[in-house]
Amino acid sequence: MNVIKVKDYQEMSKEACKIVVEKIKELDRPVLGFATGSTPIGLYQCLIEEYNKKNVSFQDVTTFNLDEYVGLAPDDPRSYYYFMMDQLFNHVDVPQENIHIPNGVTSDLEKECHDFEESIRKAGQIDLQILGIGPNGHIGFNEPGTKFSSRTHVVKLTESTRNANSRFFDSIEEVPTEAITMGIETILECKEIILLVSGENKAETVAQLLNGDITEDFPASALHKHNNVTVIADEAAMKYVNKD
Ligand code: PGA
Repeated sequence: MNVIKVKDYQEMSKEACKIVVEKIKELDRPVLGFATGSTPIGLYQCLIEEYNKKNVSFQDVTTFNLDEYVGLAPDDPRSYYYFMMDQLFNHVDVPQENIHIPNGVTSDLEKECHDFEESIRKAGQIDLQILGIGPNGHIGFNEPGTKFSSRTHVVKLTESTRNANSRFFDSIEEVPTEAITMGIETILECKEIILLVSGENKAETVAQLLNGDITEDFPASALHKHNNVTVIADEAAMKYVNKD
């Protein structure tokens, strides 16, 4: 696992942006995996700036998102579909038909999971996946205890995750109890992975990721099984890790 230690959130976002832009330029038909949450917002702003400066085009980019809440429609401002349109896709030239985000309001969730996997396979696998990490070590919505062999599936969200995400809702009762997420094995099949982490509230999580055991109780530890993972972490997040 490569670790890039940066000063702060802004540097983390710029460093990630540089890697994404290079990947888009390097490949004819880049397939990118995106994440939601507070962490990648700075990266998306930087990508929009690069697009506006005509340094990059998303015309040939295909995208996959990690997860979506079950029960929230795409036009619900709290859905991850809405988040991605609002934070990135509406501001760049990615073709609408190239955007893949699990549909959390379909009547057949199992089929949705299967079709999502199939779309990734047809696109030729994800070239570069952006990840955040939850305080409990979750990646996507793969909560502690998720099998490393999991594919895209429906999960029951833990109380800790619902609590952490309740800041986007009026009350915790409104936070969905289930989500669709790419599985751990699906994530490990991405050719390259960038994990972004910022802030002191993630410092213990980063220490466990870098120094702890590889165990299904801490989903992000599966990333040690992958040979092309870069963690970009700021000084605050690296508080308990000795690395200059
Ligand atoms: P955050 O969420 O970026 O809002 O901290 C990360 C996650 O839960 O995966």
